[in-house]
Amino acid sequence: MRVPLVSLAFALLATALPALAQTQVALTPPMGWNSWNYFAGKVSDKDIRAAADQLVSTGMKDAGYVYVNIDDTWEGERDANGVIHPNSKFPDMKALADYVHAKGLKIGIYSSPGPKTCAGYEASYGHEEQDAETYAAWGFDYLKYDLCSYIDDVMVKQAPHDHAAQMRLMVASYDKMGKALQAAGKKTGRPIVLSLCQYGWDAVWEWAPELGGNLWRTTGDIEPNWDRIYSIASQQSGLESYSGPGHWNDPDMLEVGNGKLSLAENRTHFTWWAMLAAPLLAGNDLPNMKPEIKAILTNKDVIAIDQDPLGKQGQHAYSDGEVEVWTRELQGGAMAIAVVNVGSDRYATHPFHLNLARIGLAGEQTGKDLWAGEEIKLTQGMPLELPSHDVLLVRIDKPALSHSM
Ligand code: GAL
Repeated sequence: MRVPLVSLAFALLATALPALAQTQVALTPPMGWNSWNYFAGKVSDKDIRAAADQLVSTGMKDAGYVYVNIDDTWEGERDANGVIHPNSKFPDMKALADYVHAKGLKIGIYSSPGPKTCAGYEASYGHEEQDAETYAAWGFDYLKYDLCSYIDDVMVKQAPHDHAAQMRLMVASYDKMGKALQAAGKKTGRPIVLSLCQYGWDAVWEWAPELGGNLWRTTGDIEPNWDRIYSIASQQSGLESYSGPGHWNDPDMLEVGNGKLSLAENRTHFTWWAMLAAPLLAGNDLPNMKPEIKAILTNKDVIAIDQDPLGKQGQHAYSDGEVEVWTRELQGGAMAIAVVNVGSDRYATHPFHLNLARIGLAGEQTGKDLWAGEEIKLTQGMPLELPSHDVLLVRIDKPALSHSM
């Protein structure tokens, strides 16, 4: 019997939909806040509540920041039944999750596949299913799973000198927790986002999506300084095709507002993460956020680039000396262009000249300068003077493409 192709497609879709509806989280890169970059080991229940309050009162929640993520150092001891309990900084995890949920936000937690976390606290080795069920029972929506002690205590110990076997052990540990989270989430009806943190080892982008990973770190840790941020942004080249709805490359949490980053550097850092379709997890001191930092983190036009439903990660298109041009394809044929002065000098009499032809555009383009908030016209060869480490970010809704593209 010949089944018309259209009916077949509908039938397949109908059977696939219930499963999809359950598993589809992180259709756009997760947005929220994480405790590590500012509070590190000092974080407490009070800080998490304050962060949730601030996400609402600053307008960050309205701008899309949803997850309030507790990083390392919440963990206490296991009881006689092996159930993990929080330490004295976190008196009641269920009450904390309820508090965050009551604000219309979601909450995230942290562990390691090894016996200890990076900061030396109790982790999930040998208790994966039990921990996943505990997190689900408390009401958690997100787990960051950080390799840490699993390297020495399991991978190296069980497979000394056999690097390939070590990598297989690592993949298996994430697979185990991925399955445990899916089972636990199914029971409660609250899906749990899985964030892999193993610093990009063993081309994690190739295998993480199959294990239910929704995001995966692509590098080692970020730091609040230009060199580290630039280095991480540069290391994303070539990974574009692995990112997409439900599964994202994660160049690490934001340092916007931290350290000694200049305003231009904060702007450029946020622009890069938006161009990269990166998870936007703010990592700053929300109760003491300066207005100019809030303006960066809540720029809705820039966030719309990051959250573009097409989910296509942008790329470094070309460099001209110390100026880099990045492009990102957006839904409906729109395009984002970021021009970044990565050099330490200010351009003077010899500005950078934008080469539209090199990014597939022909003739004058009308767009919006997303940091200035106004219309801009781009022309072939136009001179652009950008201060050191600053950026021009333009969205063009109807780009005039050159025929050769
Ligand atoms: C690191 C991780 C950081 C933070 C820290 C906590 O491995 O990359 O983001 O989670 O551990 O100890």
